[in-house]
Amino acid sequence: MCGIVGYTGKKSAAPILLNGLRRLEYRGYDSAGLALSTEAGIRVEKSEGKVAKLAEILGDYEETPGLGDALTGIAHTRWATHGPPTTINAHPHGACPPGGGEAPRVVLVHNGIIENYKTLKVLLEGEGRTLASETDTEVLAHLVDSYYEGDLQQAMTKALAKVTGTFGIVCMAKDEPGVLLVARRGSPIVIGLGEDETLVASDAAAILRHTRQVVYLDDNDIARIEGAEVEIRSLDTGPVTRHPTEIDWSDDAAEKGGYAHYMLKEIFEQPDAIWNTIRGRMDADRGNAVLSGLNLNPRDLADLRRVLVVGCGTSLHAGLVGEYAIEDFAGLPAEVEQAAEFRYRNPIVGARDLVLSISQSGETADTLAAVREAVDKGALVAGLVNVVGSTIARETGRGIYLHAGPEISVASTKAFTSQVSCLLMIALKFARAARMSRERGMQFVREIEAIPELVRSVLATNDAIAKVAERYAKAEHAFYLGRGYMYPVALEGALKLKEISYIHAEAFHAAELKHGSIALLTEEIPVVAIAPEGPGKEKTLSNVAECRARGSKVVLVATEGDEEVDGYGDDVLWIPECPLHTAVIPATVALQLFAYHVARVRGCSIDQPRNLAKSVTVE
Ligand code: G6P
Repeated sequence: MCGIVGYTGKKSAAPILLNGLRRLEYRGYDSAGLALSTEAGIRVEKSEGKVAKLAEILGDYEETPGLGDALTGIAHTRWATHGPPTTINAHPHGACPPGGGEAPRVVLVHNGIIENYKTLKVLLEGEGRTLASETDTEVLAHLVDSYYEGDLQQAMTKALAKVTGTFGIVCMAKDEPGVLLVARRGSPIVIGLGEDETLVASDAAAILRHTRQVVYLDDNDIARIEGAEVEIRSLDTGPVTRHPTEIDWSDDAAEKGGYAHYMLKEIFEQPDAIWNTIRGRMDADRGNAVLSGLNLNPRDLADLRRVLVVGCGTSLHAGLVGEYAIEDFAGLPAEVEQAAEFRYRNPIVGARDLVLSISQSGETADTLAAVREAVDKGALVAGLVNVVGSTIARETGRGIYLHAGPEISVASTKAFTSQVSCLLMIALKFARAARMSRERGMQFVREIEAIPELVRSVLATNDAIAKVAERYAKAEHAFYLGRGYMYPVALEGALKLKEISYIHAEAFHAAELKHGSIALLTEEIPVVAIAPEGPGKEKTLSNVAECRARGSKVVLVATEGDEEVDGYGDDVLWIPECPLHTAVIPATVALQLFAYHVARVRGCSIDQPRNLAKSVTVE
């Protein structure tokens, strides 16, 4: 979604801001802009479309006096919410008093949504102010300007007292060159500490090249930054101290490293990403998982009544695997629920329930809201999060970091397989505190530790999967079928295909297809059926036969060497032999590659699909 970068220091701000924006492109956006503090006032440049277009507009900025020598600036990539993705709606938005001329006095960039912007707009227009865009952000700029009397911090504090909604803001004033004013409520803001400089961003990826020492703002924090000086106050309580943390992701980890797309790179990183997730967390001798961040000992586990898993998108699909594994092995009731649904339907949860919130980014608005609801209802709440220091990680207080490394492609791949690996470790830990024997636990550890190798075997078939994918690239619809552990795989496989290839793909429980949706089936709709060796396989193959009887072409995901599948599929994606609960991972990897190659052949924008955002920070 929207991205923010800010810089103040001794270097030329424009290239730092543009590079920062490029690093945020993966989040999904549709216009971009920047504002520089120059001797002649604040210069704003904006453009619909990509950052490259903005850079083109700026031209040879490094050589241009007043641009190249500007040492302070703010920049933004916008994912349209209020008003279409036009240049006029792009950020930064500026404001000046009525009759104050064209040049802005106050300029800001904003992530989030100002919910009462319509009421505020009427008030501001009543004061004679003219607003040019359809955005809530321009209203905010005018509101700050309306309180401005030479001290941006005071003006911002007064303005934010009038605002309802969510925001991550970076603001500059013409009369305070070198000063950035930053505030946060509900939208992440990270401050990067440099030697003679300070950077600000909505996502650490934008500033990693310059510093790894960062401070995360909490909700209702407001910070005044000048050069290397950062002064943080809480809007509620006055001055506060926020301790710096060090980010351990290297800058290289956020680069493509020779792959055609981030998505392909991240698919191929999965053996390492999964290993990083499980490393140091397996106790082979005791047949158990060591998950100290969960902060739950066997006695706490004995008191648990139920596990509720919440998440959105791919994380929700991982949660479904978690539900099956926790019930299967630990005998503990588990349910998975879409986070927004959980939040709004007044769920029955209490002190003996564990709410596991799953989120790669740790910033998804609905998942965060579900966390807060569960906290308010007195449940135990834990996070399975990839981004260290993210809001969900901080608010849950207990949980497990995935350590999968930065995931740049909008379509999630390695985060999913790390989440599933993590959930299997949780199932093991809970099972060992219940009825699972040490011997079975030891075997379970071996099963989890084998996952990276299973993934490697599937990656080795990439060329074969690419050839299969080429045969289906012209389809406009596709059905995915699975049952048991393979049902979440079908959901995730279909999601990958629709996200990046724009083929309409639907997943069904293999048994459910014939209860209505089979009416849609024609020869034009290929069916992807996931039927590895294990319970349920024969039944899924029967469902496959029903589809073939209607003329559909079938792509099977099956276990290497399984001769029983002969004659069921037009094409087969092979995965190595393994138990069904771990087969989730290689089967999903095969479908990730299938979706990738279909999208590649169709010439789609794989890393930044249309309309999608990496982290959805609005409801
Ligand atoms: C967006 C992304 C998906 C992701 C979902 C949940 O929709 O496009 O790839 O699965 O958000 O994100 P989270 O960061 O909470 O896992």
